[in-house]
Amino acid sequence: MNQVTWWRGGVIYQVYPRSLMDSNGDGVGDLQGIIAKLDYIASLNVDAIWISPFFKSPMKDFGYDISDYLEIDPLFGTMADFEQLIEQAHQRNIKVVIDQVLSHTSDQHAWFEQSRQSRDNDKADWYVWADPKDDGSAPNNWLAIFGGCAWEWEPRRQQYYLHNFLKSQPDLNFHSPQVRQAVLNNVEFWLKKGVDGFRLDAITFCYHDEQLRDNPAKPKDQRQGRGFSEDNPYAYQYHYYNNTRPQTVGFIEELRALINRYPGAVTLGEVSSEDSLATMAEYTQGEDRLHMAYSFELLTDDFSAAYIRQTVEELEASIGDGWPCWAIGNHDVQRVATRWGKQQANPTMIKMLNAMLFSLRGSVCSYQGEELGLTEAPIEFNQLQDPFGIAFWPMFKGRDGCRTPMPWVKSEDNAGFSHTQPWLPISAQHISSAVDVQEADSESVLNSYRHFLAWRKQQNVLIAGDIQFVNAHPNVLAFVRTLGSQRMLVLFNLSIQQSQFELADIKVNTVLDDHGLATGHQDKLQPSTIVLPGFSSFYAFVD
Ligand code: GLC
Repeated sequence: MNQVTWWRGGVIYQVYPRSLMDSNGDGVGDLQGIIAKLDYIASLNVDAIWISPFFKSPMKDFGYDISDYLEIDPLFGTMADFEQLIEQAHQRNIKVVIDQVLSHTSDQHAWFEQSRQSRDNDKADWYVWADPKDDGSAPNNWLAIFGGCAWEWEPRRQQYYLHNFLKSQPDLNFHSPQVRQAVLNNVEFWLKKGVDGFRLDAITFCYHDEQLRDNPAKPKDQRQGRGFSEDNPYAYQYHYYNNTRPQTVGFIEELRALINRYPGAVTLGEVSSEDSLATMAEYTQGEDRLHMAYSFELLTDDFSAAYIRQTVEELEASIGDGWPCWAIGNHDVQRVATRWGKQQANPTMIKMLNAMLFSLRGSVCSYQGEELGLTEAPIEFNQLQDPFGIAFWPMFKGRDGCRTPMPWVKSEDNAGFSHTQPWLPISAQHISSAVDVQEADSESVLNSYRHFLAWRKQQNVLIAGDIQFVNAHPNVLAFVRTLGSQRMLVLFNLSIQQSQFELADIKVNTVLDDHGLATGHQDKLQPSTIVLPGFSSFYAFVD
């Protein structure tokens, strides 16, 4: 692995620490649990892990509300545990990317506790404070993603503060140079600890419009976005003024200048804007901004060859020397097997989805459990933990169904995740897909995942090649990856029905079937037609 460019085309396995492995029997996963599973993670043949937040937090948003950026929350362990985790991961050639929630803190952070006291303390302008309108109402029409108005009243200051997410997640004021410096100091603390990079949470939310202009209304037919539809009034606005402000690029450049002092460290931005593909391109241009970014484009319900092609082509047309990272699942959305698979999800489909994700041009985030093909876990209202789900039930059930514990051993209590009842229930369906069951089955989703990633490491064209789409039947996603003189044709049948691909002027040189997807096409290869069984994948070198 090249120590500086490892991230280009790399596969990053996302660990949701509450749910990977509980080592101390409190029902919640922890850092020692991650360490215990590093051999397993290494066996997947991924390049890195991204660990969702494990910093000190009141856990109102399960760690995305940080009250001390430089401390490990006792729920997850100690700093010594984290140092051990880095060392153990590095021994196994796994890079460690941590989450940095820069745009907002917890309301229990010392900065906010000071800021809220008065209008004239040292940190008075570290958050976004505004006077009420003459009628006492909020300064403008901005809404919070997790429900309700984005402004909360602070009696001591007789002012409102801004929160784009929960009211316990006040937004920092990035217009203040002192805030930016304080944030960068925290980031540097972790660079000195030896982390290999940062996933930058909600990076588009750092700045707000200082004039506090109202967001314009969005017509009904355009109300869609990151995992919500018009069930959430947040979708009723164009978010021109509360996020993705032009100043963000300047901050990203300050951050990159710091990161550059630690060779090999990378930044991965989470982008959510009115035109996320354009923002991904803008934020990753040149050598001075983010290394890579992902957006919610493949995290929605849209699943068709046309949609995936259009998304990737639109990005490719604008990204220039920027770099994408693709994800089809994470801790914020319904599990992909259910979201895209609906009733048809089966192991063949899930193997194909993983292979497709690993074959697009860019880096990849693969969410824990996707190597097992886990489906969305059913959660009852009285089991809900996620405040987002509690606010929008029953139209939107929140994010708990994708955050349930990993099933390790079918026959053990709580599927080997914990000795105690876990913080979220483990579904019966997950237990029958446990790691030990899949390890024993050479055709399992898990073994296919491992095999495919081992094979991919040998295919430079999949890691670094260009991508051009090819016209095909509406159920078929077809593209050619090109690196130098090497050209690889890649086909996915996204439907359960058999389909065909007409080669036309493409000349197949070598059919590749050692990637472990075991779909057995070779005998079906006719002179000019490739027969694609339902949910199959096809790889070949072409002239
Ligand atoms: C990001 C995280 C999400 C969190 C939110 C607020 O979107 O992925 O889990 O709730 O930011 O920090």
